[in-house]
Amino acid sequence: MPPASDLRFLGKRIVLGVSGSIAAYKAVGLLRALAREGADVTVVMTKSATRFVRPLTFEVLCGHPVATDLFAAHQEMLHLTVPERADVIVIAPATANVLAKCALGLADDLLSTMVLSASCPLILAPAMDSGMWDHPAVKAHAEALRGRGVTVLEPEEGPLASGRVGRGRLVDEGVVLSAIEARLCPRRDWVGQRVLVSAGPTQEAIDPVRFISNRSSGKMGYAVAQAARERGAEVVLVSGPTALEVPPGVEVVPVCTAEEMTKALISRFAWSTVTIMAAAVADFRPKRPSLVKIKKDGASLQKLELEPTDDILEMLSKQKTNQVLVGFAAETEEVILSAKEKLKRKGLDLIVGNNVVAEGSGFGSDTNAAVLVDRVGRVTQLDLLPKRALADRILDALRELVVTSKRRAHPQPYGRT
Ligand code: PMT
Repeated sequence: MPPASDLRFLGKRIVLGVSGSIAAYKAVGLLRALAREGADVTVVMTKSATRFVRPLTFEVLCGHPVATDLFAAHQEMLHLTVPERADVIVIAPATANVLAKCALGLADDLLSTMVLSASCPLILAPAMDSGMWDHPAVKAHAEALRGRGVTVLEPEEGPLASGRVGRGRLVDEGVVLSAIEARLCPRRDWVGQRVLVSAGPTQEAIDPVRFISNRSSGKMGYAVAQAARERGAEVVLVSGPTALEVPPGVEVVPVCTAEEMTKALISRFAWSTVTIMAAAVADFRPKRPSLVKIKKDGASLQKLELEPTDDILEMLSKQKTNQVLVGFAAETEEVILSAKEKLKRKGLDLIVGNNVVAEGSGFGSDTNAAVLVDRVGRVTQLDLLPKRALADRILDALRELVVTSKRRAHPQPYGRT
């Protein structure tokens, strides 16, 4: 058992809402994890959730009666008293129905009425079939909620109860815990910083319909932008083409090619105090892209001649005054060695090495296993973490470097700190 001071949610009152999805059984694991972190948890179940898991299971684990009924005589005014005391409400799993009710302000059962009367932060961890999650109505509800400051976690991709494979799985409990931590204990330790982040792939035209690109989804860079914003920084995100929502409060500059990304970053670099290159920029592009669609049948595509693109980080490092400059290294072997070499060659303060062929790591995944190498040679190997949690670890590591860069830019007289 860790000392009480290490418990993340000691003394925090959390309402755990469970709605009717096959993933309801995973809420049991989440409840145990919350209890382990010292939280005082009240569980509220919808009627359909009770058909998947018995309330008794939750009652035994949290030590409180489970609330299910708006009209239960012995549970008078629960819809007002429970949220009044809560530090955060987490609904996991949240069905499409619950998402809709929260978005529209409907209150036809205990859980939805509590949500409406609550003034504390709300976190929703959706779980549903991929067809439902992709439906424009569900997307619009998630978007509306995010716009009102609700944390709506992006469900994971994988095998679903329907037998399909797609996006709709309830996220791991670690992701929910990180989201709760971010809402309950928001660190504002990046206030005053101006952070320029790049994310996603670039696309280099072969002809008007075809291009060369890579597997980057943008998740890593978006997670960094979101973390920096939530911790108080002003954030500009230069993004290649992705399917991701822009995190609230982040200014986005959409780009497509390596050349556009170069221009967007170079013109904003002087504004930034910290620049973080998580984008997977094309290293080569077609030398002479065709202005018309290349015919499949003729001999018009005998070979595709490529030319190197500019190395953006190397260009930025030449313009560097007191900015902290961070790169990523996408590697398939010798991660630390290659990361160290790139750190030196590109003149970086910190590099995040990731093995992009390791299980659960690199392109497209929701998690990443990284090693941080800084300019003074420190190497920190991190476990496989949700990308949002990794983003926080990168920002933690950077804080010290930001402080020393400030000192370098404004040297103090000897003997003073
Ligand atoms: O987007 P996701 O699906 O979440 O995946 C995340 C990621 C794997 C893309 C990310 O974690 C990552 O590793 N990003 C860097 C990808 C890359 O281009 O690595 P590299 O080792 O080829 O380049 C090293 C650094 O130089 C990178 O910071 C890159 O942005 C930068 N670079 C590369 C080429 C170029 N022309 N200019 C650059 O500045």
